[in-house]
Amino acid sequence: MQQEPRVPVMSRACYQQTWLPLVVALLALLPPPGVSRITYEPSWESLDSRPIPAWFDDVKFGIFIHWGVFSVPSFGSEWFWWYWQGSKSQAYVDFMSKNFPPHFQYADFGPMFTAEFYDPKQWAEVLVASGAKYVVLTSKHHEGYTLWGSKFSWNWNSVDVGSKRDLVGDLAEAIKNCTDLRFGLYHSLFEWFNPLFQIDKNNHFKTHYFPNTKSLPELYELVLKYKPEILWSDGDGNAPDVYWNSTGFLSWLYNESPVRDTVVTNDRWGSGCICKHGGYYTCADRYNPGHLLSHKWENCMTIDRRSWGYRRNALLSELLTAPELVEELVETVSCGGNLLMNIGPTSDGRIPVLFEERLRQVGQWLKVNGEAIYSTNPWRAQNDSVTPGVWYTCKPKEQVVYATFLKWPTSWNITLGEPIAVIGKTQVQLVGYERNLEWAHLGEKGMVVNLPTLNPTQMPVQWAWVLKINYLNEHIHKHLGV
Ligand SMILES: *[C@@H]1O[C@H](CO)[C@@H](O)[C@H](O)[C@H]1NC(C)=O
Ligand SMILES: *[C@@H]1O[C@H](CO)[C@@H](O)[C@H](O)[C@H]1NC(C)=O
Ligand SMILES: *[C@@H]1O[C@H](CO)[C@@H](O)[C@H](O)[C@H]1NC(C)=O
Ligand SMILES: *[C@@H]1O[C@H](CO)[C@@H](O)[C@H](O)[C@H]1NC(C)=O
Repeated sequence: MQQEPRVPVMSRACYQQTWLPLVVALLALLPPPGVSRITYEPSWESLDSRPIPAWFDDVKFGIFIHWGVFSVPSFGSEWFWWYWQGSKSQAYVDFMSKNFPPHFQYADFGPMFTAEFYDPKQWAEVLVASGAKYVVLTSKHHEGYTLWGSKFSWNWNSVDVGSKRDLVGDLAEAIKNCTDLRFGLYHSLFEWFNPLFQIDKNNHFKTHYFPNTKSLPELYELVLKYKPEILWSDGDGNAPDVYWNSTGFLSWLYNESPVRDTVVTNDRWGSGCICKHGGYYTCADRYNPGHLLSHKWENCMTIDRRSWGYRRNALLSELLTAPELVEELVETVSCGGNLLMNIGPTSDGRIPVLFEERLRQVGQWLKVNGEAIYSTNPWRAQNDSVTPGVWYTCKPKEQVVYATFLKWPTSWNITLGEPIAVIGKTQVQLVGYERNLEWAHLGEKGMVVNLPTLNPTQMPVQWAWVLKINYLNEHIHKHLGV
């Protein structure tokens, strides 16, 4: 029997050397050399001028985790409560009347969110194996239930009801202790059925009962307690940012909070903000424009095409395949975006093994081809003008351009319409094969690369191969001002 492939080793051991925190603490006392801190005003003009911390553009790939009380019915989608009792969609109403007693309420699902198999260290290991460099967990979705013992979510949080655990804190600790991933939190501003939100809504958002007693105190609590480096805001409930006091909160986050130097946020801070204000742009769910944007953006999408939360009624055909996921990553990164790929754990605390397999498959691809993704820049062209399904990235300092091709050409020669190659200087390699490939000019612009005759078992990966092109006759430069 052949040896099993080794499980990827966690990038940081799950213990700390005793002298390290001391050195870090001493260094923290020194003033940073020559840094004068900019103070941000609570206005979009000022907040939007803050550069997005550079780490975010380098890492390219994160995992989104939708987990909450909706994982208990695990039917349809994480919008279960809304579809059942808000819009009263027939499939959801029927599901409840068939399977639960007549007076069963959504709150009765709370004690069933038991998370008995929740092992944050195992989650951390799976996340590392995926090649992702950050994770974003739903600390609270539109249902209002907090995955930490919030002081502002009385009797509707994971410490009081359900698992009796600090689900956020336990993952934060495992991620921070055991991995090099950045820890991020999703937070929904509005809650579908919160009576205080309903009062404010009826007052045309002129009163602020809900943000002042719920969403804002929660946000401060989350940041102070867990120090997330991504704050993924969502769910403006059609209320303007003035109602949410988003600019007030963000100026605190950028000026005074413990994560002010490294924190990254998105653009969902009130109606009209999306794709316009805040940190990086998300624009829409599953946003993947296929062209370069001048502002840093993120494609948040989910392995289950139809749901973000776990649903038991998902079909295999409804889940994206590993090649489809890699394609999404490659396209997104070529166009200057980051990919945030979602999984939905079960209410008993498992990452379903099929999601786990997908994550490991993407991780195996990245293990070979990560150099074409991490810390790259968009190139002059995002995709090829002659051969469809070829996506470019580059590393200007190394004078390298990467061309990822999704289909192995039947002719064993691939035509690239964009690179301007130089005989005697330009070298082309298949990443993972590391031998110079023959190539010929296609005309003034473009080249034909002779691929090696490998049988499938000799190929470095089974789909989405990367050509590494050294030296081209042009200035390859960074397009994004991030
Ligand atoms: C994380 O590190 C702390 C301090 O070294 C330790 O007490 C704790 O048990 C660790 N937790 C995990 C999940 O590894
Ligand atoms: C908005 O937030 C800022 C910063 O925390 C605070 O100073 C201000 O009082 C808040 N405004 C309202 C209307 O709550
Ligand atoms: C690829 O590039 C061409 C222009 O060369 C463009 O028209 C097309 O929309 C791009 N995107 C895709 C997904 O092919
Ligand atoms: C592929 O390219 C090589 C040289 O790079 C050439 O000799 C060969 O004829 C090409 N094959 C096809 C099928 O175009």
